[in-house]
Amino acid sequence: MNNFASSIGNKNKFLILGCGFSGSFFAKTIRKFGCYTLTSSRSANRDPNSFVFNSEKGIVPNEKIFEGVTHILSCIPPDKNGKDPVLGSLKNKLKSLSLEWVGYLSTTGVYGDTKGDWVSEINQPKPFQKRSNNRLNCEKEWIESGLPVQIFRLPGIYGPGRSTFEAIRKQKIRIITKKDQVFSRVHVADITNAIIYLLQNKDSLKFHQIINIADDEPCSQLDVIQYCYDLLELKMPDPILFEDIKEELSPIAQSFWMENRRVSNKLLCETLGYQLIYKNYKLGLKNCFLNS
Ligand SMILES: NC(=O)c1ccc[n+]([C@@H]2O[C@H](COP(=O)([O-])OP(=O)(O)OC[C@H]3O[C@@H](n4cnc5c(N)ncnc54)[C@H](OP(=O)(O)O)[C@@H]3O)[C@@H](O)[C@H]2O)c1
Repeated sequence: MNNFASSIGNKNKFLILGCGFSGSFFAKTIRKFGCYTLTSSRSANRDPNSFVFNSEKGIVPNEKIFEGVTHILSCIPPDKNGKDPVLGSLKNKLKSLSLEWVGYLSTTGVYGDTKGDWVSEINQPKPFQKRSNNRLNCEKEWIESGLPVQIFRLPGIYGPGRSTFEAIRKQKIRIITKKDQVFSRVHVADITNAIIYLLQNKDSLKFHQIINIADDEPCSQLDVIQYCYDLLELKMPDPILFEDIKEELSPIAQSFWMENRRVSNKLLCETLGYQLIYKNYKLGLKNCFLNS
């Protein structure tokens, strides 16, 4: 990571489209390495390095924003019609630039339900939810755009400020258990660091267009919640069986429990040699606990 500044930092200009949880973590990190980085949000703010991009309102960045851009990371999900906001508004603009790299944050939801089996990039995606089907179509559109795009498929993202601790503190947690159900996760720092690692070693590593970024240990939601209560030194309330509460859950919350898969990170961590900072939820949550 140390020579990132010299290998990438000074010569390049990054645009981070959608500076939410993952985008802002990425921007903050690469700025520390001296990368010139501009970020988008849907409404104006005081940050002089931020610009407005809002596909729903038809607000696109002005020409000056794109001058000299070499790298773009899109962290924007599909819009309410299932279309990619960036490609819908900016595809021709992006194609007119001399881009070295475009990153797109996607989701492991495209794999659908594997009934708890491991799934990797070589498996054919079988989206189960409409939103995952839309996402897969967005991925395809990115690939077909001809831009030098690399797609990162992500499971549940957590990190300081967005983890089970916040849900416990805000008393918004439902402690649900479902037999044999697991979820995969990734700490936001590993999304950023894995991408930096790939950029830094781009000349020596084989290029893969689709890469999962996930930790080593998919596990039950209950294990995660129990661990948070343990760190907080609080007693966890009794869990409720999914079958007993399912009718009360919102459609989105129900859909969350309808898919069961273990997302493999072997391509990233074995073939490409990235070393996770947070290999499992315990390490990642300890970091959240200490930083929130
Ligand atoms: N959260 C998860 O657990 C998870 C898991 C797997 C994959 N993902 C995907 O990974 C990506 C990053 O996730 P995240 O949780 O870091 O995202 P996030 O915090 O929700 O941020 C999304 C960003 O997209 C911007 N945005 C949304 N709609 C837009 C539009 N129509 N035009 C312009 N900008 C728009 C938002 O702008 P504002 O800043 O103005 O709100 C925000 O900056 C997303 O595509 C997400 O769906 C998320």
